[in-house]
This record gives sequence, structure tokens and C-alpha cells, in this order.
Amino acid sequence: MNKKLPVLSISFRKFAFTHTENLFFKLMILEAIKKIKIAVDGYSSCGKSTLARQLAGELGYIYIDSGAMYRAVTLFAIEKKFIGNNYFYQQNLINSLQKIIIHFEPDHEFNPITFLNNKNVEKQIRQIDVSSYVSQVSAVPEVRKQMVILQRKLSVDNGVVMDGRDIGTVVFPKAELKLFITADVNIRAQRRYEELRSQNVDVDFDTVKQNLIQRDNYDKSRKTSPLKQASDAILIDNTSLTREQQLKIALDLANKIIYEDRN
Ligand code: DC
Repeated sequence: MNKKLPVLSISFRKFAFTHTENLFFKLMILEAIKKIKIAVDGYSSCGKSTLARQLAGELGYIYIDSGAMYRAVTLFAIEKKFIGNNYFYQQNLINSLQKIIIHFEPDHEFNPITFLNNKNVEKQIRQIDVSSYVSQVSAVPEVRKQMVILQRKLSVDNGVVMDGRDIGTVVFPKAELKLFITADVNIRAQRRYEELRSQNVDVDFDTVKQNLIQRDNYDKSRKTSPLKQASDAILIDNTSLTREQQLKIALDLANKIIYEDRN
């Protein structure tokens, strides 16, 4: 009985494609279809990145996490002691901007990993100290200017989903689809708290919630490119939606635009 197994697996192989082959065929089909730019903006920890990543995966698009770039600059500023408890030497950071090189590499599941000056900083940029200073750093106009240049460079071709705060208003004002994501602050804080705890980060719920509220206020009230819903963005409140329901709403909207010329 055992001896027959290899024969069985060989004949089965004729009809089954490997994961890589499937991906290749899917990409070939997607290559022939109209591609668009999708901007996903919204409040802190409202699930934008998850949605944007899932959407990109479904559509075969590239996913760009613009928040990771601001976090990487913030980590650089912390390491150089340009920012810390009660001080921020903005000009020093501005003078060093040309020394900051950020790039992304995919992991084994095609999720983007952030590199700062060729070092993998994906885990470090998610820590609470970076979250505490990132709004101050991202409010500096010179920092934003550099990041927007990089964001546009990374997405010269269509077929991009980018998430952030100013993607629909500043980075891609002509994006074919703009989504603005929000959720109740307690739900957002709880999701973020659980995510951090699952990564063994020692933090309490109130600290997480306060950080979210502070960042939202800071991001909304800064002078340069504040967080706001673009006038042509579609609002999705995911307070009582599952990830799957949210993805379906977004995917339906995207497909409507992608296939509209074909009807
Ligand atoms: O998406 P995030 O929470 O990782 O973003 C971190 C911070 O970066 C956020 O508090 C505001 C800032 N940010 C921004 O100002 N503009 C963007 N396009 C993305 C993020």
C-alpha cells in the first residue's frame, strides 16, 4: 500500500499547482486589468494597515505603510538624542534628513518589513516610545516633504494601496479610491492593547488609550497636512465590523471602479 503513494502523488501533481504557481497565474491575470491607486486614511489604530494590506493582497497591488516611514524617522531621532522627554532639537533632525535611508523588503508572507539605514527596525518602530514621539516628528514640514517624495517614488506605477493620514488629501489627491477609516476610541485602544500584549510589550490599557487620544489630537491639529477626511473619501466606521466585513466593503468599492469601464 505504501509503495503506491509516490505514484499517487505524482499523478495528483499534474492537476495541482503549487502556491507559487497559483500566485504567478493570479499575477498574470491581474496584470491585464486596470490598476488604480487607493488611499486609506484615518485615526490611530483603527485597522487601516490591516485593511490596506489585505486589500493589496486581494488585488495583487503593492502595499505601502506611510506611518512606518514617520516611525523610522522618529526612531532615528530618538537614537541620535534629537528628541526625548521634554526636548526636541528639530533643526538637528532637519539637518540630518539626508542621512536617513528608509526602504522596505517583503517577509515570507509578502508583508513589508521596514529598514532604517539598512537595519531591520520593524519591531522597534512599533514600540511605545516611538509612538509617543512620532506625532511631534511627523508635524515637522521638512520631514513631511521628504516622506511625501519617497511615498510618491515608491508608487510611480498604479496598483498601490497606501495607508496614512494625508494620503487622500496630499500624497495622492487624485487617487481613484479614497477610504477614511474610523472606530470608537475604546475599541481602538482595546485592539491596540491586545496587539501590544500579544507581542509581550509591558503596557497598560490607559497608557495605550491616552497615547491614541494624544496622537489623534496632535495629528488633527498640526499645521502641515493635518489628519482629515478628503472631501471625496468614503467613510468606513468599523466599530462593529469584523475584518472580513470591512475588507468586503472596501473590495467591492475597489472592484466597482476597476471594472466600471468594462460594463
Ligand atoms: O499609522 P501609524 O499609527 O503607524 O502612524 C504613526 C504616526 O505617523 C501617526 O501618529 C501620524 C504619523 N503619520 C502621518 O503624519 N502621516 C502619514 N501619512 C502617516 C502617519
